[in-house]
Amino acid sequence: SWTAGHVIDEAVDLIRQQVGSDHVICGLSGGVDSAVAALLIHKAIGDQLTCIFVDTGLLRAGEREQVEETFANHMHIPLVVVDARQRFLDKLANVSDPERKRKIIGAEFISIFEDEAVRLAETQENVTFLAQGTLYPDVIESTSHDTATTAKSIKSHHNVGGLPSEMKLKLVEPLRMLFKDEVREIGAALGLPEEWVWRHPFPGPGLAIRVIGAVDEPKLKVLREADRIVIEEIRKAGIYRELGQAFAVLTPVQSVGVMGDYRTYAYLVAVRAVTTGDFMTADWARLPDELLGRISNRLTNEIAEINRVVYDITSKPPSTIEWE
Ligand code: XMP
Repeated sequence: SWTAGHVIDEAVDLIRQQVGSDHVICGLSGGVDSAVAALLIHKAIGDQLTCIFVDTGLLRAGEREQVEETFANHMHIPLVVVDARQRFLDKLANVSDPERKRKIIGAEFISIFEDEAVRLAETQENVTFLAQGTLYPDVIESTSHDTATTAKSIKSHHNVGGLPSEMKLKLVEPLRMLFKDEVREIGAALGLPEEWVWRHPFPGPGLAIRVIGAVDEPKLKVLREADRIVIEEIRKAGIYRELGQAFAVLTPVQSVGVMGDYRTYAYLVAVRAVTTGDFMTADWARLPDELLGRISNRLTNEIAEINRVVYDITSKPPSTIEWE
């Protein structure tokens, strides 16, 4: 029968056989898959693993700090953090088309990751392997269709989109026989914090596709703060795990409001929460009125740039989960 301990032992043996005395690099996204892949590999080969985390500036509040805290400080896994916030902001300036944003972010991400891999290979012998958190369902999907499906091309933004071209790295994919729920169980067994194990999926382009229209740092700051409040209240209400995803969207709409004796003219924020099995279809979550009220009060009280909050009551289809 399936036990996390048994699967971990088996994966560790396989990684050791495959990698030998070579060096592995692993991109961390902040999500559960790349984290569990890294933990398994570290358990197998220790400091022959180096993790790379790119701070795109499009992440949620505290995400980079949590990666540093867990991987570097707590687990003592060699970690390179690349501060690429300004690079992404520069590339995204005045770009409002969602697909162009995705392309720019994907290309920039790969280029930064490649640079880091090349740099690491200058100081480190035998950098031959690249780790990926590919799951069993992704393996099935990519062997049963030759042409890229939408779901697959979406994922290519999320994972490290390919191999550093000059380096010809071989792949280590320790999760290729596992389903998502098994990955979570193994993550918990390897000491990944509970909050991380159960984290909702987060798109590769990050907050850039939740700021509708052109992205700049002031807008990202508003959205980061709004997202933190939405998630905090949903966790406090004890329903985080029942939801497939929940987040705030910063719209370009400004509307008139009133505060004391003054008129305000500030942003409209949308709150989105869905329940879903496979993310191909989704239903809008029937959040309790009191929870919606608390979220709305906090968003407007704590964030001066927001004076109106709406709740998205569309399902997928006809909507998508994200707004862009
Ligand atoms: P939609 O909005 O298409 O989203 O209903 C379905 C799932 O995919 C995620 N998503 C993305 N993930 N890169 C990603 O890595 C993307 O460009 C992207 N767009 C959407 C979305 O968060 C949801 O989980």
